[in-house]
Amino acid sequence: MAGALRPLHIGELEIKLPIVQGGMGVMVSTAALAAAVAACGAAGTIAGVGLGYGTQENETDFPAASRKALIEEIRKAKAATDGVVGVNLLGALSNYDELVRTAAGCGADFIASGAGLPICLPQLTEGTDTRLIPIVSSGRAASIIARSWKKRYNRIPDAFIVEGPLAGGHLGFKKDEARAPAAGVLEGLVKEVLAVAGECAGRPVPVIAAGGVFDGKDAARFLALGASGVQIATRLVATHECSVAQEFKDRYISARAEDVVIIDSPVGLPGRAIRTPFVDRLLRGDREPFHCGYQCLKTCDPDTAPYCIAKALFNAVKGDLEHAVVFAGHNVSRVNEIVSVRELLEGFVAEAEVELAALA
Ligand SMILES: Cc1cc2nc3c(=O)[nH]c(=O)nc-3n(C[C@H](O)[C@H](O)[C@H](O)COP(=O)(O)O)c2cc1C
Repeated sequence: MAGALRPLHIGELEIKLPIVQGGMGVMVSTAALAAAVAACGAAGTIAGVGLGYGTQENETDFPAASRKALIEEIRKAKAATDGVVGVNLLGALSNYDELVRTAAGCGADFIASGAGLPICLPQLTEGTDTRLIPIVSSGRAASIIARSWKKRYNRIPDAFIVEGPLAGGHLGFKKDEARAPAAGVLEGLVKEVLAVAGECAGRPVPVIAAGGVFDGKDAARFLALGASGVQIATRLVATHECSVAQEFKDRYISARAEDVVIIDSPVGLPGRAIRTPFVDRLLRGDREPFHCGYQCLKTCDPDTAPYCIAKALFNAVKGDLEHAVVFAGHNVSRVNEIVSVRELLEGFVAEAEVELAALA
């Protein structure tokens, strides 16, 4: 598929297309989507959060259910493709350390980690070839991670994903910044993180731009700025290969710009979602009582949290939108058809090449 676009190198990994699929929990980016993306020459990402949800074991032994399901998803993706497949893990997870060790032990090509500074990631993955990619929303966070990894482990990040305020899901920004993002924020952040990456002695540290990269034209703009790749997520939900319920995909197709809202999440960060009856109740300040068998987030107090984010996201993938949070990026209103991953990526690459040629 690639022509003028240059492959993305993360350590010794070569990703033919400089495109990374964003991790999407709970169970939105499973092996099915990650393998389809990887088979096209981009990097696929299994989201490791909440994979055991819905299983019997989840009720009695949440950590064991999560670990087993993650092993199974990695195995399925690796069996389906020789392409590059990594795992996304949120630092806020109570069983983060165990899932990181599991992912690395099962041969995940990379671990992308956000929602908290992944300071201990090198230690947790010691002795494996798994590449380590912090997800950051500021140059400052990138710099803290780089300096602390250098000092503690004499190691530098294998890449940085820089996520701006137009992304879907949890956001590393204040609610107001997320609600009304100023123009060009991601461009500014990419420059900041490129400066940090440039100071990491040893080898080049690629910077990957994420959040609102909708088409190849957007991708070309970030590549021209010095990014080595882009990460996309929202558009990949509207593909045949994404394993969420049809109702979830239909909500993406029907979403208008005014349906996209910012909500509070027990993760402790604002989240971008599409309005559903459940989200409307949250926005009114209602509480949604829930039973918590296992506190899956370090940041959540089940006694005071107004709702269970894991359950609400799980309801979305099952198609129960009455009781769901449907996460999506700012640009979801531009998604108006369901296509195959290959069709989507071929179109994306073709646009990027035309634009890069024009910018050259
Ligand atoms: C449905 C959905 C779920 C997401 N879940 C996660 C997640 O579990 N972990 C994470 O790091 N990012 C998550 N994200 C953010 C994406 O990985 C990605 O960086 C971002 O959405 C890219 O912007 P785009 O959606 O405009 O392409 C999620 C995004 C969406 C749309």
